Amino acid sequence: MIFENRFQGRKAVITGGAAGLGRGIAERIAAEGGDVEIWDINAEALAAFDMSTRQIDVTDATAVADAMTQAQPDILVCSAGITGPNTTTWDYPIDDWLRVHDLNLNAVFYCNRAAAPIMRGKGWGRIINIASIAGKEGIRTPRPTPPPRQA
Ligand SMILES: NC(=O)c1ccc[n+]([C@@H]2O[C@H](COP(=O)([O-])OP(=O)(O)OC[C@H]3O[C@@H](n4cnc5c(N)ncnc54)[C@H](O)[C@@H]3O)[C@@H](O)[C@H]2O)c1
Repeated sequence: MIFENRFQGRKAVITGGAAGLGRGIAERIAAEGGDVEIWDINAEALAAFDMSTRQIDVTDATAVADAMTQAQPDILVCSAGITGPNTTTWDYPIDDWLRVHDLNLNAVFYCNRAAAPIMRGKGWGRIINIASIAGKEGIRTPRPTPPPRQA
């Protein structure tokens, strides 16, 4: 069910919006009248969109701050995220652990930190950070999904 013009006059930034949940959210906000800017690291995937896009690595705090100033969003949806390898703690590569935390935790903070003052200035804003049930319930096989989601 589409709510006609629900997001009319609202600018939305969707990180990780070129695929999966982010893409669905981006298309829905656009269908309901929002001005959507899709942020994603995958340039090839972004090329397929006919809405506004920005190739960006959201783990780059400076790039995020600059892009957010340009975008001036009313709505921020942080959907960029990765699962990382699924293996035992003792086999888990440290680089992969850090990579997951950098995107699933630090990048969300960078985006929130940059967007909040803009929304405060406008007197209106909405931020949605996509997490995982793994952060709430935990999961049996060790992987780094729960800790950044719990934080
Ligand atoms: N799909 C699920 O069942 C599920 C379940 C629980 C939680 N989640 C969480 O929801 C979020 C979205 O999941 P999804 O399945 O839609 O993922 P997805 O892999 O389909 O899409 C993620 C998008 O993020 C982009 N991305 C990756 N690294 C990036 C970076 N450094 N900068 C900018 N963009 C980057 C990718 O290019 C991709 O387009 C993730 O945080 C994921 O952990 C998903």
